[in-house]
Amino acid sequence: MDNFFFHTPTKVYFGKDEELKVGKLIREYNAKKVLIHYGGGSQEKSGLLSKVRKCLKEEGISYVELGGVKPNPELSLVREGIKLCKEEGVDFILAVGGGSVLDSTKDIANGVANPDVDVWEFSLGTKSPEKTLNKGVILTLAAAGSEMSNSCVITDLDNNDKRGYGSQMNRMDFAIMNPELTYTVSKYQTACGAVDIAMHTMERYFCLGEDTYLTDSIAEAVMKSAIKSGMDAYNNPTDYAARANMMWASSLAHNGLTQCGRTFLLTVHQFEHEVSGMYPDVAHGAGLAALWCSWARYVYKASIDRFCQWAKNVWNVDTDFEHKEACIEKAINMQEDYYKKLGMPTNLKELNVKEEDLETLALKCSRNKTRTLPGYMPLSYENILDIYKMAYNA
Ligand code: NZQ
Ligand code: ZN
Repeated sequence: MDNFFFHTPTKVYFGKDEELKVGKLIREYNAKKVLIHYGGGSQEKSGLLSKVRKCLKEEGISYVELGGVKPNPELSLVREGIKLCKEEGVDFILAVGGGSVLDSTKDIANGVANPDVDVWEFSLGTKSPEKTLNKGVILTLAAAGSEMSNSCVITDLDNNDKRGYGSQMNRMDFAIMNPELTYTVSKYQTACGAVDIAMHTMERYFCLGEDTYLTDSIAEAVMKSAIKSGMDAYNNPTDYAARANMMWASSLAHNGLTQCGRTFLLTVHQFEHEVSGMYPDVAHGAGLAALWCSWARYVYKASIDRFCQWAKNVWNVDTDFEHKEACIEKAINMQEDYYKKLGMPTNLKELNVKEEDLETLALKCSRNKTRTLPGYMPLSYENILDIYKMAYNA
């Protein structure tokens, strides 16, 4: 078991009506002016934004607003947000939305607090934020896990580059999670969320690491709960138990708990970020579903025991009597069937990715052939291209 650092400082307020506490919570940070940051209209329609404005007014907290965050949040809006915060003297940002609003919030907070650095340098990894603004979220979509993660993913549309960076500055101060706020999430986005949540922990599970049986058990429970709650919420959008378990799984899958003692790189995420970077209409979860099974089929022979453990403990495949490879292939097929039942794509063609773009995707993912993705089977440019081709033809 490797050494590790674990610190998830986000305060979680979970359950029905918890969003009504937002004014009082922000007051604890002595905020002079708040930026309410949100997406493209779902929260105006749901009435949540009206409630938030009322709560802030009741506490005498002044605020400005910036909406318009798009899925796969854009650098240009981040820059606009930084400018607005500086002009208005904003010292607290409240995200009202899902992963895209959260990441836009994190990047704005880092940009405002580190005025001498161009914010895109954080995404490129050439600079790290040393300070940040206080920030909280009212989560409206269980998916990205950004509400408790140390990660921030932004897209520079001018260059079709989507980049994530990790930093403790990216941790939210608080996260309000009322599962009822996710009842209005569409079936498609619910399915994307189910894929992404399970994937955050699956990816950690398949990173290098030994003797992490406690972490493994937690990870297997998170994966199974995400699979079940995702399907239940997809079939019945107002099933409180499903929405609640899905929401909590979203946070635990990506707050670092399921990587303790293992190395960490979300490999298939690296593949996916190139796809939704180049095709901004692709939802992150759908991109992951289109790629994961091809990746698994390509690499599993390098870690037969690990994949076998997953087949047995997550998909209940009886691994005692059958050949190990047959068990693994069965479990990968079960994972693929699950995606199909959720209406998710299982190949890149379904996402309208063009065959002639596969090489560019592989070049970007390998950072122009300078990066090999580590893992039980390290993946160079050639391997990455093979996997994109497999996922195209799957
Ligand atoms: O924009 P609005 O109108 O609010 O609509 C959104 C958006 O169209 C809608 N939505 C959100 N809550 C809703 C709702 N619709 C109805 N009812 C509600 N209650 O859902 C759509 C998708 O929202 P988005 O925030 O884009 O989805 P998600 O939470 O999946 O976030 C995806 C982004 O997060 C990044 C992804 O790459 C992608 O850019 N990720 C961030 C991570 C992190 N920071 O830790 C980790 C992830 O792996 C991921 O990469
Ligand atoms: Zn993800």
